[in-house]
Amino acid sequence: MPHAHIELDKRAVIAPVRRRTFGAFVEHLGRCVYTGLYEPGHPTANEDGFRMDVVELVRELGSTTIRYPGGNFVSGFRWEDSIGPRDKRPVRRDLAWHSLEPNQVGLDEFAKWLKLTGSELMLAVNLGTRGILPALDLLEYANHPSGTALSDLRIANGTPQPHNVRMWCLGNEMDGPWQEGFMTADDYGKIAARTAAAMKMADKDLELVVCGSSGSAMPTFGEWERTVLEHSYDHVDYVSCHAYYQEFDGDLGSFLASALDMDYFIDTVVATTDHVGYKKRSKKKMQLSFDEWNVWYLKEHQETARVNDEWTYAPRLLEDVYSVADAVVVGNLLMTLLKHSDRVGSASLAQLVNVIAPIMTEPGGPAWRQTTFFPFSITSRLASGEVIRPVIEAPTYDTARHGEASVIDAIATVDDGRAAVFLVNRDLKETAQVTIDVRGLGSTRIIEAVTLADADVYAKNTLAEQDRVTPAANASAALADGILTIELPPVSWTAAALS
Ligand code: AHR
Repeated sequence: MPHAHIELDKRAVIAPVRRRTFGAFVEHLGRCVYTGLYEPGHPTANEDGFRMDVVELVRELGSTTIRYPGGNFVSGFRWEDSIGPRDKRPVRRDLAWHSLEPNQVGLDEFAKWLKLTGSELMLAVNLGTRGILPALDLLEYANHPSGTALSDLRIANGTPQPHNVRMWCLGNEMDGPWQEGFMTADDYGKIAARTAAAMKMADKDLELVVCGSSGSAMPTFGEWERTVLEHSYDHVDYVSCHAYYQEFDGDLGSFLASALDMDYFIDTVVATTDHVGYKKRSKKKMQLSFDEWNVWYLKEHQETARVNDEWTYAPRLLEDVYSVADAVVVGNLLMTLLKHSDRVGSASLAQLVNVIAPIMTEPGGPAWRQTTFFPFSITSRLASGEVIRPVIEAPTYDTARHGEASVIDAIATVDDGRAAVFLVNRDLKETAQVTIDVRGLGSTRIIEAVTLADADVYAKNTLAEQDRVTPAANASAALADGILTIELPPVSWTAAALS
């Protein structure tokens, strides 16, 4: 049985827990919006057509900031299509996902849905096929109180109060050749800087996110960030990071160590932003917005995706069904984001409903939790106060993709007499015995200890078996004389709350 020892000290503070770490992403893609969160006629739909069964699950998930409306979708989007009387809104082709967009949900409707879920909006402007003026128009429509053409139009459309959107994404994945209007770093850096500067002329307190790389495997990774920030550093507040992970060729050991890649990604982007910041003699420390992250079986999607002549509404796209192993990786990635709370100011699990999502729905039918729902909802509920850096002594193993990895990973938070510890066991076969010295926290009592694991690491929740996988109380947890002992089953994610 592998053994690990962890020391926790409340003085080893990394940064405050940022609620925006628990953001998610809603894109007009597949069935995320239509038949996902919006389905008039569904038995649980409210008067605005929103599924209240989904709203309940989103509340339970504990997601905070929601990035909207894309993603690749935003690079072909005319925001004006999605406001005003619904019967007058045009149907458009969405080239990014080869689908028809009916524009029945737009900013004003989505803002109502956000209120139901208690979430904050993070809005993206189209810098792929559009530019500065449409972005400024959207800002005026969304945020100006009244007395101008576009704020009065919003009021006439039934939304008297401004949406007061604070966070704005300056386009999406502009380095990706798949993106409508993709650009060189130089071209994008210039348009992003000009758009950001103009938006801040309207409101200097906006928080603007410039596009970083679409992934650390992009050939331009690093150089992209440097060039874009050379142009835009003074005008923006965040640079984005996107990362998706999956198991390749049955190499579960590497997959379980995916968090090491996220670590490397964050460290590299921080180094690059700081390099540019120092060169500019800037006092600003650029924040990272990790606004797309998840497990996504992208390789399979790329191999099977077919572009045909059919244009349909809300096709079933990217509906990955997640296993226990996937959930362990998601839990570990979220731990990694917390670990970097000093520089990752915002993050978005991509996505929220049906599309590579923790929540699934059937049209006219139920909504249920995927395996990945649990580590997210439990971490969002328990993590509070300040993130502290644990000292971990654990065996390691070799991975083909990420080098040497610790069998056990952990992160902790402390908040006014309460603490939470999050752990993963990456061992494929063995239960790990872990001792955690919590004397430095002053904890004496276990409030709860839950583990997500299964004898079948590929077990999943499906329409037919919606509760096949759920977290269970970890009965091995015991706390005596300041030492928490706990057993972690193979391929598992665990949370323990202490006081
Ligand atoms: O989340 C799915 C897609 O992944 C997004 O639309 C895009 O930004 C990324 O490539």
